[in-house]
Amino acid sequence: MGIFRKKEEIQVDFDHIPEHIAIIMDGNGRWAKKRGMPRTYGHSVGAETFRTIANYCKEIGVKYLTVYAFSTENWKRPKEEVDTIMGLLDKYLHEAIDDAVKNGTRIAIFGDLSVLTPELQALCKKAKEVTSCYEGCQTNICLNYGGRDEILHAVRGCMEEGKAPEELTEADIAAHLYSAGTPDPDLVIRPSGEIRISNFLLWQSAYSEFYFTDVLWPDFSEQELLKAIAAYQHRSRRFGGV
Ligand code: FPP
Repeated sequence: MGIFRKKEEIQVDFDHIPEHIAIIMDGNGRWAKKRGMPRTYGHSVGAETFRTIANYCKEIGVKYLTVYAFSTENWKRPKEEVDTIMGLLDKYLHEAIDDAVKNGTRIAIFGDLSVLTPELQALCKKAKEVTSCYEGCQTNICLNYGGRDEILHAVRGCMEEGKAPEELTEADIAAHLYSAGTPDPDLVIRPSGEIRISNFLLWQSAYSEFYFTDVLWPDFSEQELLKAIAAYQHRSRRFGGV
């Protein structure tokens, strides 16, 4: 075991930080409601929490962070809420481009971007291009993302290449996922007390460890992340073996 550093009572082995952490940023609406505020306020505070956690992941050596920002099902929400989330993403992507040198963070967007506004599509493309040379924590933002949609998209990609059914392998499908080239998540975190996967990284999470907490996303702190990592470090990962 490496050196233990203690942050309050949580013991984390900082020499064995999970390489890839994925988070379902859930609970923004309930957090705002508890304060008598509109759901959109919860998303704004949730976006700040995302910045804090993304910075901390970089600091402690997480190599990949994937967050669920907007699902293929989230279009059912009121227009004002959808517009707010898109506005927060727009703001973050502009920041990521402007601060690329300072942050050293590589940005990738997972999802079907074809239905986004041309401006947001262009911004996603630019953020990816401008940050592609950096080696810091790769931050993957799932936007208009659905796990089933992703698998369907990947299978179609294989078929378009003329793959015969008997030739098709798991590696072929993985190579056509939005996440192609990114290792599978070691740890999937879902705050807010909900215990389900909600169409997030269905293919990639086959052997991920899951961590659930009742804390709502806007209250999720560096301490909460360390608790999740500490729990992960007590798990025995066998990947179907013994
Ligand atoms: C789920 O909570 C959260 C979302 C659907 C949106 C998440 C978006 C952000 C945190 C902001 C934008 C992201 C970035 C990366 C800048 P919910 O609203 O379903 O919560 P509830 O279950 O309490 O209603």
